[in-house]
Parts: sequence; structure tokens; C-alpha cells
Amino acid sequence: MRIADGRSVARRGYRKCADGLHELIFVGGYPGRLAHFLGPGRYSRERRAVYLGARRHIALRAESKERFSIRRHIHMIEKGLCMKPRRDTFAEDYIRETVAAVLDAANDSNFSQLELCWFEDVLNAYFDATVSSSSNIIAEARRQYAFRLNQAPAGRELCAPRRVSDGKSPVSIEDLRELADLRESVRHYTSEPVPTCVVDEAIDVALQSPTACNRVPWQIRVFTNSSEVHEIASIAMGTAGYIKSLSHIAVLVGDLSAYSHDRDRHLIYIDGSLAAMSFILALRAQNISSCCINWPDIRNREIRMAKRLGLQPYQKVVMLIAFGYADEDAIVPFSGKRDLESVRKFGELSVSGDEVN
Ligand SMILES: Cc1cc2nc3c(=O)[nH]c(=O)nc-3n(C[C@H](O)[C@H](O)[C@H](O)COP(=O)(O)O)c2cc1C
Repeated sequence: MRIADGRSVARRGYRKCADGLHELIFVGGYPGRLAHFLGPGRYSRERRAVYLGARRHIALRAESKERFSIRRHIHMIEKGLCMKPRRDTFAEDYIRETVAAVLDAANDSNFSQLELCWFEDVLNAYFDATVSSSSNIIAEARRQYAFRLNQAPAGRELCAPRRVSDGKSPVSIEDLRELADLRESVRHYTSEPVPTCVVDEAIDVALQSPTACNRVPWQIRVFTNSSEVHEIASIAMGTAGYIKSLSHIAVLVGDLSAYSHDRDRHLIYIDGSLAAMSFILALRAQNISSCCINWPDIRNREIRMAKRLGLQPYQKVVMLIAFGYADEDAIVPFSGKRDLESVRKFGELSVSGDEVN
């Protein structure tokens, strides 16, 4: 009892010190800010992950084995093909590299057939579209590509630019609104397993989310075994009080080796979050509830998670998502939202630029 009391006093003391330091840094003017930016190890793990990701990206690219840059280049070629008016000459800067990488990809089992079909169809369309170009670079790339991949099973759908879909949405705004309202963070689940096909369907919907340059820089790691679920959930912080009621957990992992520039370091979080929302709604559409769980930027937790998931130093957890069949006795918070007017501004430009510093 005494030890427990001593520990909680120490913990409270520690928290007070940490809060004080935090306030000094963020409210305390220049000395605090200086300490924050120059302090030992400030964001050093993130910097290291960004650096190692870029290093891996550049090294793999030199060997024509870099998946994300092939995807990005094919995406850029597709955009060129969709331009109005379309130019005779485009993508000169990277077409040779792209052709070499695509030809190598054909013999690399890491690429799916869908990806290979997409690469092939876009390059075929590109070389057709640039046939009247006077560029020697494109001519040389065309010769290099003369052997076309022919990954395509006969009669398959073309994976190249197409007319914008003119179909009406099969989902009404009322239905979408209802689904959005039905989604709520549930923290208590039954032990009933969610069928793999249901999880796969939700991930497939998440895969349709936009990602910067169509890189798709994330993976979802799913755990269904209860001891693994509890172990993984316990590495995060936000499950106190209900961890034992979790039945399934997904860990969304971003891959910083998708980028060669640190300016892109936030994209794993942006793309990952867009995918997460689609995943969550697709689960809910199949009567599966969920709850996002925060992934804190804390060294020892990051190390534990990296060890258990076998993550590379350039792979970062974006968030965890608990999911499953809601316990019918579960109680959920009302979770009032902000009102529309407080989050929406139409066309209000700041004249003085006062808000920027
Ligand atoms: C990025 C993120 C992290 C979250 N982390 C936690 C968490 O660690 N523990 C938890 O119980 N809920 C967590 N939540 C759920 C939020 O508390 C919840 O979304 C919010 O209160 C609104 O409630 P609603 O989802 O039911 O609308 C998180 C949500 C998000 C988007």
C-alpha cells in the first residue's frame, strides 16, 4: 500500500515537472523555444527515420528496384496523358528510368499482376501518344521498351487513362450521412471473430483512397488472436480501462522509404489517415464497429512495437484501429462535435497576412 502510494506520488511529481517543462517550452518565450529546438534528441527518431527512408529510396532507385518511384512516375505519365491539350513530348526527365524499372519489375515477384498491367498499359499509351515527338530521349526509351511486358491476361480491362465516370452515385447523401452517424468509437467488443473476407473487403475499400502520387505508402497489420491483440494494444497508451474488451486490432504502418525528400515526410500520416477513414466506414458498412487508438511518439513504445512487428527503422506506426462486433451492452460517449459554422469558412482571405508568422 505504502509502495503504491509512494509510486503514485512520484508519478504525480513527474507529471507536474513534465507539464511545467512543457509550458516553459511552449509559453515561455525564446529561451524555452531554444531549449526545445536544440534540446537533446528532439525529434531525432523522426529525423533518423526520414533520413533512412530517403537513403533506402535512393539506393533502391539506383538499382531500378524502387517500387514507389515507379508508381509515382507511372502516375505522372498518366497525368501527362490526361492533359488538355496533350503535348507530343513529355516525361523526358524520367521516361528512361521508368522503362528500365518497369522491365525489371516484370521479373520481380514483389510487384502484383495488377501493378504490372497498369505499368504496361500506361507505357503502351505513352509511346502511342508520343509517336510524333522529336525527342531522342523518348525515341531511345521506345527502343528500350520495344519488348512490351505482355502481362495482360486476354480480354482484361485496360489499366490506362479512361473517360471520367459518368455513373450516378449509388449512395445517397442521406445514406452516407446515416453511415457517418452510425460510426462511433466503440471500446467494448464480443469475442466473435470478424471473418477475414470482411476485413479484406474493408482494406480493399481503403485501398481506393487517394494517396500522394498514387504511391500507397502504407500497410495494415491485422491481429485477431486475443493475446496478440492485448499485447499490441498495450504498447499504445489509450486503451486503459478497456483493453481486455478488445477483440481485433489493426496497426496502420507508413513507409518513409517511399520518399527521397524530407518535405514529403508527412505524407504517410496524411495518406494513412485517408485510408483509415475509408477502412473504418467500410467496416461499419459491414456492421463492424471500431475505435482509433492514438500512437504516441514515445521512444520505448516505438522500439517495442518495432520489435514485435519487425518494422524497419523507416517504417512508422500511424495509428491503431481496434475493431470487432460491438458488445450489445457497450455504452459509448455522446461525443458532441463542433458546429458547422465553427469549422467552415468560405473564401475569407486575410488582407494583412496577420495570421501568418
Ligand atoms: C487519431 C485518433 C486517436 C485516438 N486515440 C484514441 C485512444 O488512444 N483511445 C481511445 O479510447 N480513443 C481514441 N480515439 C477515439 C476518439 O476519442 C474519438 O474518435 C472521439 O472522442 C470522437 O468520438 P467518436 O469517434 O465516437 O465520434 C482516437 C481517435 C483518433 C482519430
